[in-house]
Amino acid sequence: MRKPFLAGNWKMNMDAASAVALAKGVVAEVGQVDGVDVAVCPPFVYLQSVAAALSSSNVALGAQDVFHQPNGAFTGEISCTMLKDVSCSYAIIGHSERRHIIGETDALINKKIHAAIAGGLLPIFCVGELLEERQGGKTDQVVADQVKKGLEGVCEERILAVTIAYEPVWAIGTGVNATPQQAQEVHAMIRGLIAKMYNKTIADAIRIQYGGSAKPANTAELMSQPDVDGLLIGGASLKAADFGAMIKASMK
Ligand code: PGA
Repeated sequence: MRKPFLAGNWKMNMDAASAVALAKGVVAEVGQVDGVDVAVCPPFVYLQSVAAALSSSNVALGAQDVFHQPNGAFTGEISCTMLKDVSCSYAIIGHSERRHIIGETDALINKKIHAAIAGGLLPIFCVGELLEERQGGKTDQVVADQVKKGLEGVCEERILAVTIAYEPVWAIGTGVNATPQQAQEVHAMIRGLIAKMYNKTIADAIRIQYGGSAKPANTAELMSQPDVDGLLIGGASLKAADFGAMIKASMK
């Protein structure tokens, strides 16, 4: 039985005061929740103050990205060691905004996944198709390709550090979520692929989140799908009450 895992991706939002206030609000909503793993992923510069606000709770901290090199002349980048140093447990890797706006490639994402696992961070590895790819009947092919390339060389002993997040690009921030059936179809495809790449035990254990306009009103139905194990939540995670309601609705 896979434990539900909900993560809030705050993206490039908040300021110093509102980040701490939101973290405290999340703790007040769900600080001691049982049966669901919860994480929040603030911007890098607020990680430390959010970590302090989360310290009395079981809400985990995640970063929105990580660089694959351990240290050195990489202006603007942040390493695993730095993230561990400020109490991060998770790192989102390969988010569609980084793939499509910043230009991250599957090869770079693969390096980041390897570095994160080796450095003791738990990757939230994002995949998802564009609208034209879905309309062209290419969803499975695109998503399978991203999964294979992103996880290339990740061995059986390490793969369960990874959470996969299926985030159809057309659903992110648009208010149009994938239907629970659309999400389930792709999640089942991904799980089948993981069974082929690894084995059935690993496929049964790996968690696959859905992301893209998830909100309180659609949480229960999305989470009721057999292969939907959690949510990666953007907009709705910026309101503690909404995020809290989604977590409560996800206790299977
Ligand atoms: P959204 O974002 O919930 O605002 O659609 C999800 C994400 O990008 O992780």
